[in-house]
Amino acid sequence: MNPVMTKEKVRSPGAVEPGARAADGTAWPVRQPRHVHGVPARSAGRDAVVSARGVTKRYGAGDAAVDALRGADVDLRRGEFTAIMGPSGSGKSTLMHILAGLDRPTAGTIAIDGREIGGLKDRDLTRLRRDKVGFIFQSFNLLPTLTAAENIALPLTISGRKLDRKWFAELVETVGLADRLSHKPSELSGGQQQRVAVARALVGRPAVLFADEPTGNLDSRTGDEVLQLLRRSVDDLGQTIIMVTHDAHAATTADRVLFLQDGEIVQDRGRMTRSDIYDVMKSLEVQR
Ligand SMILES: Nc1ncnc2c1ncn2[C@@H]1O[C@H](COP(=O)(O)OP(=O)(O)OP(=O)(O)O)[C@@H](O)[C@H]1O
Ligand SMILES: [Mg+2]
Repeated sequence: MNPVMTKEKVRSPGAVEPGARAADGTAWPVRQPRHVHGVPARSAGRDAVVSARGVTKRYGAGDAAVDALRGADVDLRRGEFTAIMGPSGSGKSTLMHILAGLDRPTAGTIAIDGREIGGLKDRDLTRLRRDKVGFIFQSFNLLPTLTAAENIALPLTISGRKLDRKWFAELVETVGLADRLSHKPSELSGGQQQRVAVARALVGRPAVLFADEPTGNLDSRTGDEVLQLLRRSVDDLGQTIIMVTHDAHAATTADRVLFLQDGEIVQDRGRMTRSDIYDVMKSLEVQR
């Protein structure tokens, strides 16, 4: 039996065959069906992992007030790779931080994996984030004094969860870091550091992974490797990803592209070509 087939419903049109190998010969491990945060894998259809309703964010007050978000409604579906694009200052980072529970909205509601976060105390929100959410940042954000292996295991170390050694080894092999585990971040290339960050974000099997410009500091080839890694985590593991990016090429990797303009989601599209993305971005920049 091939357990990856349980993900069939959420597999995207571009999905590779279960167990398929990438050009570099690595493959995601084929895993037994598992319960995804208490939900049987077979019921993990196109339900929302993150839901936002009427989300606004106002910075400052009076004449100096900035409305960074003006009422965002969005459902981010399980097993889907969503890119968020839009001109500078359109509210992408604000939206991502609020969806991830890193910042609170001025108004509106957010639910992460079925749990409304508005009423949670900071401590409970921190715990929910720790257990359900993975992050990848433009600047890698690895701890310089820890080795690659220690950085990857960090989310589990912090939360006191047990390291699944088999999963850890499989992840390390998949991201191609087996011979770099004892190195510190300063001894790794940018691409290797970001691959450590991808493994770290996946080690706790988060319900949702947020990535803010994950290829922003990488050359195009290394950036491509990281994008393919993210893509495969969606296709093979049913991972849910939300990625903010300025890069039209990066957004072509996504199943869905949301465009923001002046704090509003103005377009919600499926898979797009690079030239379609350029056209939309041009029209949004012209209208400003
Ligand atoms: N802490 C803050 N205080 C005041 N205004 C802020 C704050 N953070 C963001 N803003 C404003 O909110 C708006 C949206 O900012 P945001 O950082 O979400 O944009 P963005 O789409 O991520 O832009 P970029 O592509 O440049 O990263 C901008 O006008 C910005 O100046
Ligand atoms: Mg930003």
